[in-house]
Amino acid sequence: MYSKIQTLRHGLLGQRILERLRKIGLNINPYYLIREGAGPLENNWSCLDAEFTSQVFLQSDMSAMCACTAWNTPEVLQQRLDKGHLCIVLKQQQQIVGYTWVDFKEVNDSVCDIELQPGEVYLYDAFIAPEYRGRGLASYMRVECYQQVRRAGADIFYSISDYFNSPAIRFKQKLHAKFVRLYLDVKVGRFHVGHWVLKEYL
Ligand SMILES: CC(C)(COP(=O)(O)OP(=O)(O)OC[C@H]1O[C@@H](n2cnc3c(N)ncnc32)[C@H](O)[C@@H]1OP(=O)(O)O)[C@@H](O)C(=O)NCCC(=O)NCCS
Repeated sequence: MYSKIQTLRHGLLGQRILERLRKIGLNINPYYLIREGAGPLENNWSCLDAEFTSQVFLQSDMSAMCACTAWNTPEVLQQRLDKGHLCIVLKQQQQIVGYTWVDFKEVNDSVCDIELQPGEVYLYDAFIAPEYRGRGLASYMRVECYQQVRRAGADIFYSISDYFNSPAIRFKQKLHAKFVRLYLDVKVGRFHVGHWVLKEYL
């Protein structure tokens, strides 16, 4: 968990306020649908090659992946793999310090209802361990992810970022990602108040 200073420094105050409101049953969720991979990629990440490797997750990575975050359990990971999802892991020697997932069939976020067309994929659950953040590793890992997905025959990448998740938006901007739409979803307790498109960008 971030200290108050880190929260302010990394532009996460809005996120923290919405998390507090969620705890009392008011779920206000502004988020962007983002399209990645269409812009040019500068080769800014080669300096990371000596320290890190980015590669497809293998069954032999299961215990290292579970050690990475508390919510990565073998059951959850296996369910994703059984559905054909692809995972790219970022390693420093044998330790997994980050990962990102690809769903080839659907935008598996319960709020966003867009349907994927042939050649399109959904990138989700990108994570870099807190002590490694701010070094451009998410972009480094994502470039490997784009290459692997292209090899599988798709080249349009969608993802979702919370409006107030500045680190997520920043790392995607470095990859020349484009905002597609800004949405707002609101729930009060179990009552779904609504889901709106606030802005179209493309
Ligand atoms: C979003 C995330 C993957 C970005 O990874 P990263 O490798 O730190 O990305 P970058 O190094 O490119 O940094 C992106 C921005 O994060 C912020 N940042 C910098 N240092 C940071 C730190 N120590 N901690 C948190 N954020 C930091 C900065 O705003 C930075 O932008 P800048 O380079 O223009 O200053 C990572 O913060 C993370 O795992 N967050 C939690 C999970 C999450 O929100 N995933 C996104 C789902 S869409």
